[in-house]
Amino acid sequence: METPLLAVTAMDTQTAKGSDARPQPDLLTSDAAVKSAAAAILNSGEFKAAANETLLIHSPVGLKAARLLIVGLGKQAKTSVHSVRGAAGTAVRFSKPRGIRELVFALPEADWLPPGPCARAAAEGAFVGDFDPDTYRSDRKDLSLQAFTAAAHASVNNSKVEDAFREGWIVGMSQNFTRSLVNEPGNKLTPTEFGRRAAAMAKEVGLHCEVFSTEKLHELKMGAFWSVAQGSEEPPALIVLRYEPAGVKDGPVLGLVGKGVTFDTGGISIKPSDNMEKMKYDMAGGAAMIGAMRAIALLKPRVRVIAVVCATENMPDGKAQKPGDVQTAMPLSADRPGKTIEIINTDAEGRLVLADGLTYARQLGATHLIDAATLTGAIGVALGMINAGAFANDDDTYAKFQAALEVSGEKFWRMPLGDEYADMIKSDIGDIKNTGGRYGGAITAAEFLKVFAEDTPWIHLDIAGLAWLEENKPFIAKGPSGVGVRSILEWVRSYA
Ligand code: BES
Ligand code: MN
Ligand code: ZN
Repeated sequence: METPLLAVTAMDTQTAKGSDARPQPDLLTSDAAVKSAAAAILNSGEFKAAANETLLIHSPVGLKAARLLIVGLGKQAKTSVHSVRGAAGTAVRFSKPRGIRELVFALPEADWLPPGPCARAAAEGAFVGDFDPDTYRSDRKDLSLQAFTAAAHASVNNSKVEDAFREGWIVGMSQNFTRSLVNEPGNKLTPTEFGRRAAAMAKEVGLHCEVFSTEKLHELKMGAFWSVAQGSEEPPALIVLRYEPAGVKDGPVLGLVGKGVTFDTGGISIKPSDNMEKMKYDMAGGAAMIGAMRAIALLKPRVRVIAVVCATENMPDGKAQKPGDVQTAMPLSADRPGKTIEIINTDAEGRLVLADGLTYARQLGATHLIDAATLTGAIGVALGMINAGAFANDDDTYAKFQAALEVSGEKFWRMPLGDEYADMIKSDIGDIKNTGGRYGGAITAAEFLKVFAEDTPWIHLDIAGLAWLEENKPFIAKGPSGVGVRSILEWVRSYA
């Protein structure tokens, strides 16, 4: 193929573990010309085919491509479709800084790596790899890829693989849409602007969208959401997106609820100034829901979905709520008064906005709930920056999420819930308090939300540890990760 760069994957087939076991890189292609062009360097032992390791050959002998890039998938036993997503991203991130703006990615030929899912993963990986967070640099050069082509062996079903590729394209672009929102600073992406961007996206893809503010919060008696919003000069935004596929009149209604705190100072329980700038990403859960809705609108699963994003700043102010205040959350209906919440720490604001978001989604008819939030620092203490936290009040609902993770390749780890944890947030003055102490902080936060999910099947995703990447990786830039979008989307599709 005539291309500035042809990327081909390789794996390490060595199974021995002894001290003299050398890596055995093997190309995942049946193409004799590619194999022969790479033979000498692969035999040299310089390239181990470790995951996302790269090796560049200029003017490869016998090929039309100007360059041959070999990308490692890692040890054979550990290779999966998810390694292919990474490899595609790595190929893109290798190319960008070198000014290479077009490439052909050869889908691996291996019977445990089916071409359809690989094509989808490659497209996702390519888009994800293409994103850089340097939006506001005056000397910014747009080095985005202009063409990414996936090449499959002649024997594979073209139209099926093309469909899968297109699907990955939608998913990757939607994940990047989320990342671009999360990347925006608090002064640019106010709650109002967040609502505008959601509405603009909704218009583009044909979703129903409403953005409400202060008045609606009062009308719905959203005392928990308002208690956070009352301390900011910026009005809150209650963003509601609806996906209603034609002809689907019964079955589940999935409720996606996102924390959209566009900046979290902590409020009166103010945060230390070190790293406070990071709190612009405290709307990542809401942005994940909006990105997932974008993909849902384009992929059109046959299931109804409602997204509710509660957007506000959390600020200290003369009007801000104080520790000790008691707030009344939104009532589900006239005969069921809202629960009372004792505010212990105004920095535990995410659970407050989500409490009313969950109730509102139920009032709008959601039969199953999923929420995503950068809710606690404690989830990072528990799971590191490797797994995000997941909680659920229903095993069957969680089983569907677990299955979605197989497709998305995202890492979530299920955490426990239970009455002993629920006891930790009982209040002396009211129904519950908004913090449960230092220990098990991510779990007591989840227990707080569970109070509002009540008997509706519900999943809670605490993405605080993963929504912002501190380090560059070969396949993704540091900065906003877009975590959650792919898994939430796949969970939704599992109900169609
Ligand atoms: N937005 C933070 C959680 C967070 C921490 C997100 C680090 C991303 C990175 C949340 O609103 C918060 O402040 N949580 C408190 C809860 C505490 C007061 C019970 C926390 O984790 O310290
Ligand atoms: Mn906070
Ligand atoms: Zn927060």
